Amino acid sequence: MNNIIEIKNLYKSFFLKKKINILKNISVKIKKGDLVSLLGPSGSGKSTFLHLLAMLDRPTKGDILFNKKKYSEIINDDNHKVRGEKISIIYQQNNLLSDFTALENVFIQLFSLGEDKDSSIKKSKKILTDLGLKNRLNHFPSDLSGGEQQRVAIARAFITSPELILADEPTGSLDTANSNDIFNLFLKLKSKKTTIIYATHNMQLANRADYKLSIIDGNIRRSNGKKSV
Ligand SMILES: Nc1ncnc2c1ncn2[C@@H]1O[C@H](COP(=O)(O)OP(=O)(O)OP(=O)(O)O)[C@@H](O)[C@H]1O
Ligand SMILES: [Mg+2]
Repeated sequence: MNNIIEIKNLYKSFFLKKKINILKNISVKIKKGDLVSLLGPSGSGKSTFLHLLAMLDRPTKGDILFNKKKYSEIINDDNHKVRGEKISIIYQQNNLLSDFTALENVFIQLFSLGEDKDSSIKKSKKILTDLGLKNRLNHFPSDLSGGEQQRVAIARAFITSPELILADEPTGSLDTANSNDIFNLFLKLKSKKTTIIYATHNMQLANRADYKLSIIDGNIRRSNGKKSV
């Protein structure tokens, strides 16, 4: 089958004063081109789950496979390459580079993968314009609103045409019109077989996915995108 992600018996615990088990024995398969919403109460482990899929953190136990290859093996050889070229994450806190303008934040992502400068600038301007930021290209993050910063972070994740996009509450600070624009971009990418997993607390947005994954008490449950959980 055409699975981009296979998660097998995944556990994640954190150890502070005592051990807390966040993800407990999760097994899920995600097919190429799936548009998946990720739900769960605050603190249930959505960001933790996305960080594991982005290879930013390691499982306590269990395996994650990306295109049939175990993450543990990928991390040992060329983690940066796979992450840079094939997987993009939009962080819950957008993590823009504060000394770079909106345009530079997006441009650098593409340029650093070896695309030529003029073409990187052209493509970055286009995507920022598509996201309604034509007149904000030269603004630094501190001079942008929360929603504008979030759109720059989204442009930065999309610009490299990754196979997998992990979006952690990507529309959290956006109004309805902008959320719809982002969702339409998701649909456009899905038509090109990009796989997208987005965490959200917005049920309306969650219901527009192909299906929903809900993290409840450390377990994951799959349900149809068109029905309520
Ligand atoms: N590095 C860490 N060390 C210890 N505990 C952590 C760490 N990272 C996350 N946690 C804990 O794990 C739990 C899950 O956190 P996570 O950020 O994944 O939740 P979430 O579902 O994304 O919540 P939200 O909807 O509020 O964003 C929380 O209780 C959090 O305090
Ligand atoms: Mg979170």
